[in-house]
Amino acid sequence: MKVLIVGGGGREHALAWKLSHSKKVTKLFIAPGNPGTAMHGENVIIAAEDIEGLKAFALREKIDLTIVGPELPLTLGITDAFAASGLLVFGPSKAGAELEGSKAFSKELMFRHDIPTAFYKKFEDAAQARAYVETHKPPMVVKADGLAAGKGVVICQSRQEALEAIDLIMTEKAFGSAGKKIIIEEFLAGEEASFLAITDGRTVLPLAPAQDHKAIFDNDKGPNTGGMGAYSPAPVLTPELQKEVMERVMYPAVAGMEKEGRPYKGILYAGLMLTAAGPKVLEFNCRFGDPETQPILMRLASDLLEPLLAAAEGRLDEVSLEWKKEAAVCVVMAAQGYPGEYLKGSEIKGLGEAALLPDTVVFHAGTKDSGGKVVTSGGRVLGVTALGAGIKSAIENAYRAVALISWEGAQYRTDIGKKALR
Ligand code: AMP
Ligand code: GLY
Repeated sequence: MKVLIVGGGGREHALAWKLSHSKKVTKLFIAPGNPGTAMHGENVIIAAEDIEGLKAFALREKIDLTIVGPELPLTLGITDAFAASGLLVFGPSKAGAELEGSKAFSKELMFRHDIPTAFYKKFEDAAQARAYVETHKPPMVVKADGLAAGKGVVICQSRQEALEAIDLIMTEKAFGSAGKKIIIEEFLAGEEASFLAITDGRTVLPLAPAQDHKAIFDNDKGPNTGGMGAYSPAPVLTPELQKEVMERVMYPAVAGMEKEGRPYKGILYAGLMLTAAGPKVLEFNCRFGDPETQPILMRLASDLLEPLLAAAEGRLDEVSLEWKKEAAVCVVMAAQGYPGEYLKGSEIKGLGEAALLPDTVVFHAGTKDSGGKVVTSGGRVLGVTALGAGIKSAIENAYRAVALISWEGAQYRTDIGKKALR
């Protein structure tokens, strides 16, 4: 089968790496890819948002299955556009991707179908939002409705902070049209976990649970990022809790979307807060997590193409997944300054040495080829991922590889996975 992966980050490198092991994949393209994906397939210079360009390429190359990494092409309707030309995509339709594309829609869906989540109010008017803040006790969470690359959420410890967040999002339009609407929600305390499943709209096949590290600095200090590291399994999600999440969150969400005329196929990713009152949904994403996908796919023992193809074709009930017993840990190495403005173009050293380590894969995210050298080109540069007999040894193995890699200003957390050892 000819497969096209859309995207060019660490998640897409992990998808390309795993799919390159699939006997059924005869040819693998990645658009636009990165120097990491180029080790497993052919990079194509088409942007992930260029739906017409991607469609023309897929038709020309007779691509059998397109797998979409990032949310933006999904919310722009890549699945619908491809389907109209007889092309098969793993990923939800535009109407399905609304689950991530609009936080207001996602919250309303959760309330309509009794899915546990924080209490909230939606506002389209800044004055009304301000008035609401004056009558509510902090902490509270102010969120831009639309896509804001994980940055449209402000945890406010005081009314003043909430008022500033409303101004930032609605008046200053810091996230553009994503901030036309906002939601203000109850603050939830607890530990976060990422629960991902593959679905064809009926069958829901959970992936191994994972945990992300959103903050830039050790001990969850500093501003939020796209994710500074992840591990799988996530011991906080006990088998009982996983069952509860399937019954109270995943099945009702998939069934709810179907009932509302938005049949949902692809990855359903629930960002959960494990509160004292049970798991509650912080958000839904309509795609694989980044960096969660890196450790999750390192642990997947069975083939990846088959479940993705079966989900796209609506026959996921025929498939099961097998997992390795080992744990996996991914440490993100980022550029100096990230998540703010960061340096680009530094030469990365040590990739060859790290590649020789067993059970270790250095996934590329923000890298670029520059005259035969690999240089930094993004905020999150690498996802150094390793397996180990347990989380502890996976941590040791991942940091052994990290120690071999360097560039000017490289930064990374030194505590990835530690939470799992408590
Ligand atoms: P979201 O994009 O909605 O998942 O929010 C990004 C991050 O903000 C989450 O991963 C949490 O760390 C935090 N967050 C979002 N909503 C809440 C909430 N209601 N209570 C506490 N933390 C939250
Ligand atoms: N790691 C968080 C996300 O993929 O949204």
